[in-house]
Amino acid sequence: MTNGINIELVNLTKRFGKNEVLKGINLIIPAGQFVAIVGKSGCGKSTLLRIIANLEQKTDGESLKDGIQQEDFSGVRVMFQEDRLLPWLSVLENVGVGTKLIKNWQPLALKALDQVGLKDRANEWPHVLSGGQKQRVALARALSAKPRLLLLDEPLGALDALTRLEMQNLIEELWLNQKYTSLLVTHDVAEAITLADRIILIEDGNLALDLPVKLPRPRTRSNPKFAELEEILLQHLLGQQNEKSTKPKELQAII
Ligand SMILES: Nc1ncnc2c1ncn2[C@@H]1O[C@H](COP(=O)(O)OP(=O)(O)O)[C@@H](O)[C@H]1O
Ligand SMILES: [Mg+2]
Repeated sequence: MTNGINIELVNLTKRFGKNEVLKGINLIIPAGQFVAIVGKSGCGKSTLLRIIANLEQKTDGESLKDGIQQEDFSGVRVMFQEDRLLPWLSVLENVGVGTKLIKNWQPLALKALDQVGLKDRANEWPHVLSGGQKQRVALARALSAKPRLLLLDEPLGALDALTRLEMQNLIEELWLNQKYTSLLVTHDVAEAITLADRIILIEDGNLALDLPVKLPRPRTRSNPKFAELEEILLQHLLGQQNEKSTKPKELQAII
């Protein structure tokens, strides 16, 4: 069961002046799916996410949630690379930002902090926390609103390798429990394979690849299929893939 939002992009186009960043994207993401978006820096990943979040205007086409276009669709939360915590609020109050109009925001915020393993830090100031802990608080803030769609824009990009792995486990565990729709932008191909049901690669403003990932969870890098998938994605990102006609065969070996 899922309470996620389903997303449909129809010929979605975005131009900044003469720069056409998204050139007519067509994509259907069913409710509850975990999708990773990868692509070279500047290819439009954040722009795509921001349009879905209604933080950015599209130029043309449609961005639909549950079949409708609505500016203030509730149940959508975004998490960024920066934690965006407010230094003058306690950890608990930071988690409650955005849900404080709800009468019982404190228990909800405390529960979310518990889910990210930081319940005992509720009354501290953000500056005493480590980078990884601050991102956990940011994640708790996103979760306290019980999102139906969680948009993650390179949320682990600034963390050290070990903390990244811990956070990946946490992100997977929370998604498995709550089954919202999840969209993760990442430049880390292994992270995409670890977490996603499906990986989308954006190239020249178009979808260059739409790969299902059917490896059993939890996924380990020691699985040879993991490595094969990683190789395919890296080759695409580095622009070294062979002729396109070989693609289906390569994929069949993986899936
Ligand atoms: N507000 C903006 N105004 C003008 N150009 C922008 C703006 N935001 C993004 N761009 C341009 O759009 C392209 C895609 O940016 P972005 O979506 O941030 O890429 P990515 O997240 O994949 O690195 C880049 O060329 C960037 O310079
Ligand atoms: Mg970006």
